[in-house]
Amino acid sequence: MGVVLEASEIVKNYEISNGFYILEVFSPDIARSSAPGQFIMINLSHLHNDPLLPRAYSMARRTTETLVFIYRVVGRGTGLLSEKRPGDRVHVWGPLGNGFTITDRKAVLIGGGTGAAPLIDLSEEMSRRGMDHTLVCGGRTAGDLKFMDEFSDVVKYSAYTEDGSLGEKGFVTDYISNGNVGAEAAIYSCGPMGMLRRVSELAAEKGAECQISIETPMACGLGTCLGCAVPKRNSKGYYKACTDGPVFDSKEVVI
Ligand SMILES: Cc1cc2nc3c(=O)[nH]c(=O)nc-3n(C[C@H](O)[C@H](O)[C@H](O)COP(=O)(O)OP(=O)(O)OC[C@H]3O[C@@H](n4cnc5c(N)ncnc54)[C@H](O)[C@@H]3O)c2cc1C
Ligand code: FES
Repeated sequence: MGVVLEASEIVKNYEISNGFYILEVFSPDIARSSAPGQFIMINLSHLHNDPLLPRAYSMARRTTETLVFIYRVVGRGTGLLSEKRPGDRVHVWGPLGNGFTITDRKAVLIGGGTGAAPLIDLSEEMSRRGMDHTLVCGGRTAGDLKFMDEFSDVVKYSAYTEDGSLGEKGFVTDYISNGNVGAEAAIYSCGPMGMLRRVSELAAEKGAECQISIETPMACGLGTCLGCAVPKRNSKGYYKACTDGPVFDSKEVVI
């Protein structure tokens, strides 16, 4: 199945804590045809003039009929989305992007903030395949990770918080630097750009494989606007994060 474009009904949309929301939309076709690390665009321009452009969101869970997302209100698009109620419709298109490539190596999943979303989906997929793996998520404070409770039936994780209010005190990248990850590992990561930079550096130091999902702002998600360029590391030119990514080998991109 190709890209599905539809007006999807909101099933749930509520705040968990600290401006983090859970959104569930009815979209059986995308749910059945997507894979961990892929994303969809959500557009509200049929309801509001501003913003005209859609916003990208990674699936945190795909049930047989619905898609579940974690988002944080950071601007106008996410602010308007947070006002929508069950029964309202949002325009969506997807699934988009490449998703993660699951390898046989020892899997370590490192998520920061809402970057945990595609890793929850990946963790669920790895559990389905009977793969041993570790999921580690970081936030500034315990409230920033409260959304993980919504997924406790399917994923187990270790927490890092900057203020020590949940799990270990420190940055989520400390999990790698503290000697838990070696050359035998495959790291899968998503989160803020600074965190992904550090994860990439540490993976290179340890000699581990590393895939990062880059959440660069996107205007179309379909490869046509060229708004999501990511510089290539070892050659001239750019990747399009929406169609070549959003998941890249950390050695192949400059972030
Ligand atoms: C592939 C992909 C998957 C994503 N998945 C999720 C997700 O699961 N949950 C989620 O909450 N967000 C996700 N995002 C980011 C989300 O699309 C942006 O947060 C959203 O565009 C913000 O829209 P806005 O109108 O509320 O903010 P805007 O008004 O557009 O921006 C408000 C502020 O946020 C900053 N900002 C905007 N977009 C980003 C971004 N992508 N990264 C960092 N800062 C940004 C702007 O620079 C500005 O300072 C994803 C992005 C991509 C590309
Ligand atoms: S978002 Fe338009 S080309 Fe990537």
